[in-house]
Amino acid sequence: EKEKTLAMVKPDGVSGNHTDGIKNVILESGFSICREMIVHLSEESVALFYAEHASKSFFPSLVRYMTSGPVLVMVLEKENAIADWRSLIGPTDALKAKVTHPHSIRAMCGLDAEKNCVHGSDSPQSAEREILFFFKEMSSGRVGTKH
Ligand code: CMP
Repeated sequence: EKEKTLAMVKPDGVSGNHTDGIKNVILESGFSICREMIVHLSEESVALFYAEHASKSFFPSLVRYMTSGPVLVMVLEKENAIADWRSLIGPTDALKAKVTHPHSIRAMCGLDAEKNCVHGSDSPQSAEREILFFFKEMSSGRVGTKH
């Protein structure tokens, strides 16, 4: 019944020293951290990771932001990991999150709609793709899907 998801502390979260606090929240919320890695993404990697946003007006800015410093990527595991991590991080826009979801990670650590501190896979298909994007050794098929 366990499920895996990809979590990321983005450049503003790492440079703002939110990494340890976020990892504590993750562990206190019952997730285990299966894998973790610090990477400084290239423009090419960001463009691939965020390919679905390539046509958006904010894409050039997103690439600048995501390449501005290192990120921490983690594979989290627990029952219902994908939805539970999304609800823990809160809405995309950290400014709105501060109003509607004040206890969410983005409300507490994020800055705005772009610099929102953390990422989480939004579906089993995204989790599968995003986990394999960073951790190619993790076997496909059972990643991000219930088993
Ligand atoms: P995330 O949901 O993890 O993945 C897409 C990212 O694009 C999002 O986090 C933000 O960092 C960024 N983003 C989404 N919407 C906007 C927006 N309206 N303006 C600027 N950046 C955005």
